[in-house]
Amino acid sequence: MTRKIIIDTDPGQDDAVAIFLALASSELDVQAIIAVAGNVPRSHTVENARRVLELAGRADIPLYAGAERPLQKTQTTAEHVHGPTGLDGIDMSWSPSMPVQEQSGVEYLIQSVRAAEPQDITLVMLGPLTDLAIALTLAPDIASRLREVVLMGGAWSELGNITPAAEFNIYADPQAADIVFNAGIPLVVLPLDVTHKCLGLPERLKALRDNGNRCSVAAADMLSYSERFDLDKYGWKGAPLHDPCTIAWLLQPEIFSGRSVHVGIETAGVLSTGMTVVDWWSVTGRAPNALFLTDADSDAFYTLLTTRLATLP
Ligand code: RIB
Ligand code: CA
Repeated sequence: MTRKIIIDTDPGQDDAVAIFLALASSELDVQAIIAVAGNVPRSHTVENARRVLELAGRADIPLYAGAERPLQKTQTTAEHVHGPTGLDGIDMSWSPSMPVQEQSGVEYLIQSVRAAEPQDITLVMLGPLTDLAIALTLAPDIASRLREVVLMGGAWSELGNITPAAEFNIYADPQAADIVFNAGIPLVVLPLDVTHKCLGLPERLKALRDNGNRCSVAAADMLSYSERFDLDKYGWKGAPLHDPCTIAWLLQPEIFSGRSVHVGIETAGVLSTGMTVVDWWSVTGRAPNALFLTDADSDAFYTLLTTRLATLP
């Protein structure tokens, strides 16, 4: 039985690799892509999503434009990691031709979840949570209709990557994250604690490149570009690979482990805005609202990623 998913994303090289992995996996039925402002402005994330879908030979998948800016916070982008286009590292000499849907991504999200059978749609969030937060505000009923929301974001012991206390996707729109984490939707969170254990070591990127097909080579090229910031910052042998962990969890959840805990979002901190406050030791008495994954078998993760991407064009 395939699982219907909608991917909300801010490509972003790691987003692109996550989308490739989803498209390479017959267990998943990608209903649509929604490109939101995040790593780079929405104009770029939409263009990048078109490019990724065309590289994968999937211009048939409907693409929607998501939110252009966070709910309240001034916009934070991450060109220092992803480059000025957000997809630096691959050949950008050609222009994609696939259309972007007229309907807004938020309207599509509401309409498609309402039209689907209850618990039929899984939402995969790879960027700021703005689109889902707006959809929940306009249509609270969708919360009980979603099967699950699987998101890359936050951190427990790894704290932050865009500030000392906060991870980018949450920090970019903390009010949106607060809405999502309080909506009562089954959440599966892949935080920095997991992604920092899934490092793109040279031999792993080489194995990807050695697949030889255009999507695997593009993935290796993209990650070889975006890694430079993290290698310099952390001094590790490989850069963390964030967004594909969400898709890998959907495909092989046994690769990951964690626990159900309460996660709160700091929205009014002086130094800690956007922090995911993880009640790992259940000291608050607050009911768990997320399956928070903190460990991964990184060899199994990269084996899955490399073997699946080999099946793409
Ligand atoms: O903190 C990592 C997250 O921020 C990833 O989703 C990456 O694409 C950026 O959006
Ligand atoms: Ca992302």
